[in-house]
Amino acid sequence: MNDKDYEDFISTVSHELRTPLTSIRGFSETMLSSWDKLDDDSKKKFLKIIVEQSNRLINLVENMLSVTKLQNTKGSLILKEIQIKPVVETIVSIVKNQYKDKNFVLEINSNTLPILADKDKFEQILTNIIENAAKYGDENSTIVINADNSDNSVLIKVTNKGIEIKQEDYEKIFTKFSRIDNPLTRKVQGSGLGLYITKNLVEKMGGKITVKSEHHTTTFEITLPASNIELQAREKCSR
Ligand SMILES: Nc1ncnc2c1ncn2[C@@H]1O[C@H](COP(=O)(O)OP(=O)(O)OP(=O)(O)O)[C@@H](O)[C@H]1O
Ligand SMILES: [Mg+2]
Repeated sequence: MNDKDYEDFISTVSHELRTPLTSIRGFSETMLSSWDKLDDDSKKKFLKIIVEQSNRLINLVENMLSVTKLQNTKGSLILKEIQIKPVVETIVSIVKNQYKDKNFVLEINSNTLPILADKDKFEQILTNIIENAAKYGDENSTIVINADNSDNSVLIKVTNKGIEIKQEDYEKIFTKFSRIDNPLTRKVQGSGLGLYITKNLVEKMGGKITVKSEHHTTTFEITLPASNIELQAREKCSR
């Protein structure tokens, strides 16, 4: 990182930290100074904001640690053969618990080859993408997670209905701290680091990630290399 990038990074981080901290301080001070005048509902509302903003800080710090790790640990992936179905199921059950209004449909072809990937990182990738689909998807809508083989790779598609990403923003959303300004993004919280981290991890594992968003439908496509051992075995059998 050059000096200019470093300055930009520090100024964005400071801003991102200051916003939730200012609101935590503000609401705590109001509660302390006006405790007797506030009714229970207001107290509850203020505490809810304090919890939300604390969660936002924790998410930001975790994401920043991930970014630093991306830069420091170039070759530290532990690549193993991974069956994607159980991993997708685990991540979906975690996200479902957080976004109870959403329906999740899994379309994982039973022939899908295992991938060669780092399990923790693969989980992080799926979590970010599936969480975004739930976070930015319409209320009570369905999220479809589809997986199948594509050449010597596995293609995973995550589709949701909801506010579109304009074509001119397709690249931007994968950069650091970028969030698309629309009423929805303003309503839900995020640090704008999720997709930046995701793209870096996918590419480190030799894969690719793209987005397409039209007709009120957004699809993220992730391609990851299939495990060679399994591939060779299947080729042998088919000969
Ligand atoms: N499925 C989606 N539908 C519509 N917009 C999306 C979707 N996924 C991402 N976006 C847009 O891309 C932006 C960047 O996403 P990214 O995951 O990097 O950050 P975030 O969700 O805002 O924060 P976090 O760091 O907590 O993930 C989002 O703020 C949102 O505007
Ligand atoms: Mg996100």
